[in-house]
Amino acid sequence: MTSDRTDAIENLLREDRTFEPSEEFVANANLSDASIYERAATEEGFRAFWTEEGNGLDWIEPWTDLYEWTAPYAKWFIGGKLNVSVNCLDRHVAAGLGERVAYFWEGEPGETRTITYADLLDEVCQLTNALRDLGVKKGDRIAIYMPMIPELPVAMLACARIGAPHSVVFGGFSADALADRIDDAQCTVVITADGGYRKGATVPLKKAADEAIGRTASVQHCVVVQRTGDEVAWDDARDHWYHELIKDQPRIADPEPMDSEDLLYLLYTSGTTAKPKGIMHTTGGYLAGVATTHRTIFDLKPETDVYWCMADIGWVTGHSYIVYGPLANATTGVIYEGAIDFPEKDRWAKVAAKYRATILYTAPTAIRALMKYGADAFADDDLSSLRLLGSVGEPINPEAWAWYWKEIGGGRCPVVDTWWQTETGMIMITPLPGITTLKPGSATFPFPGVVADVVDEAGFSVPLGGGGYLVLERPWPAMLRGIYGDPERYESTYWSRYPGRYFPGDGCKRDDEGYYWLLGRVDDVMNVSGHRISTTEVESALVSHPSVAEAAVVGRSDPITGQAIFCYVILRSGFDASDALGAELRGHVADMIGKFARPKQILFTPDLPKTRSGKIMRRLLRDIAEQRDLGDVTTLADSGVVNAIRDQSGSGED
Ligand code: WT7
Repeated sequence: MTSDRTDAIENLLREDRTFEPSEEFVANANLSDASIYERAATEEGFRAFWTEEGNGLDWIEPWTDLYEWTAPYAKWFIGGKLNVSVNCLDRHVAAGLGERVAYFWEGEPGETRTITYADLLDEVCQLTNALRDLGVKKGDRIAIYMPMIPELPVAMLACARIGAPHSVVFGGFSADALADRIDDAQCTVVITADGGYRKGATVPLKKAADEAIGRTASVQHCVVVQRTGDEVAWDDARDHWYHELIKDQPRIADPEPMDSEDLLYLLYTSGTTAKPKGIMHTTGGYLAGVATTHRTIFDLKPETDVYWCMADIGWVTGHSYIVYGPLANATTGVIYEGAIDFPEKDRWAKVAAKYRATILYTAPTAIRALMKYGADAFADDDLSSLRLLGSVGEPINPEAWAWYWKEIGGGRCPVVDTWWQTETGMIMITPLPGITTLKPGSATFPFPGVVADVVDEAGFSVPLGGGGYLVLERPWPAMLRGIYGDPERYESTYWSRYPGRYFPGDGCKRDDEGYYWLLGRVDDVMNVSGHRISTTEVESALVSHPSVAEAAVVGRSDPITGQAIFCYVILRSGFDASDALGAELRGHVADMIGKFARPKQILFTPDLPKTRSGKIMRRLLRDIAEQRDLGDVTTLADSGVVNAIRDQSGSGED
């Protein structure tokens, strides 16, 4: 970055500058009347709002009651029947939009596909028929483990058409992680690919799927998309090529009428224990929630916008805002398979320019990575088509916000910083770009009808100007309906700390004007590049290695990835600390969980600070990790660190 640019960013941040929507933006905005907040605040207005949104969907049978709330269990659009794939595809084709592009797809090596709504419906029907021929029926769970190729949304929509809940496992997860998820939901089919492309290399997905299936007992069929052409092992009795399965299938398939509260999908996310939670999302409320928020928060104009969410479909952002929300709104979207900076630093900008993207939705970690390359890296790419920018996944620091606004948005695009979670299903705290005056770094206000508060330990509301724990007080249509197979954990994780109120696990402060400033997790969950990873998950991966006696893991703040995984390791006797062992342990965690969970640093230590009751003092460990320069990747605790640890551990914080 040149010093001129740096000064410009500084200026944007000076005197707490705020950013009002431009007159032009307001004039054309889907929502520009702030009274929507007041209206949706009353029970009557809230009901009217979601009734209208529900009516915007296609129902096979109409619902009778809008919602029912017996804390902590909600039901929405009660009695209604619908099919999500019909709402995402058939109804648009029936309305004459068959030739509209659903996705511009670009592979990392550069090939492209343009898929219209009619194309997508055809292929979804073919796969629906193929899966039904394999015996898949309503209620069966299907694991999907795929790269970012068009067949991934096709697979999700075919599952939705059958009523077979999908469990998409991000392609960066390891065989072990996939096996755990297959096993937990007892999936009968796995849909995968031979591999995918990432930074010029291929990722061997079928190989990992084979290993995972080998460790589980429920899988009867494995459907494999040919993507890389790499050779793969084959089990004739179990494996099927996707292209062979679908080629003679009719392009028409009956959609299963689903109850509004039937399960649409499971998506596993990390909690504070080593076992991931299968978050349950159902049909009617989820679809209404994601369609509504997508249309209003991104100010979507389906006729003219080209919307590009850069997340992976394997995370909730992709489920809600690449697949279900956008397709329900008949959006034209972009799907890009690979790394945004490969093979050139400005690959992402070339993709955005090529498809004339108007809306971009990405994570602060990506923004900071691009910031490091500098705006010169994409100076030759024409980003003038952009009109709105979104951020998600972690708090966005004001510097990154201002840089995003100025350098990528050219100073003309509102930035919507959207707070939500796998569990909430839809965006919950966010600006509305035609209404909200923005403050860099703040997700601003709860979406209309969302009732949030910031409370202290005892659950009392903290007055404006203060900080505490975020809670949500009123049910919302896309909220999770439970943790698969574990209702007790559902109640204890989210509903027991403040009975009757939802506890997301985030710290938050509100300024004097009531703006929400999210502060990150307050539990033992790390946020690395916008990915949620639990400290205990990494600890249990470490102690599964023969050399490790004990491990403590903390998230250390990191200038690019938000947090980085920092591990304190006590070795078993007979093992000596070395760089080689450190590298092996980092690789071991990557093998056990996935490459995105590879620790940044291992610190071998003879001791760990514990409370008298034996609990590891994580806050102290985080302080040590953040305050001291501990070398690169693997370090043996020097005596200073050990002393610091020892000194503190004597003080017995309980
Ligand atoms: C956690 C949820 C939501 C899709 C991606 C992550 C953090 C998310 C923001 C934001 C501050 C944010 C929270 C939340 N988070 N968005 N705009 N500002 N923090 O989904 O893996 O379920 O993680 O991500 O800590 O609890 P997830």
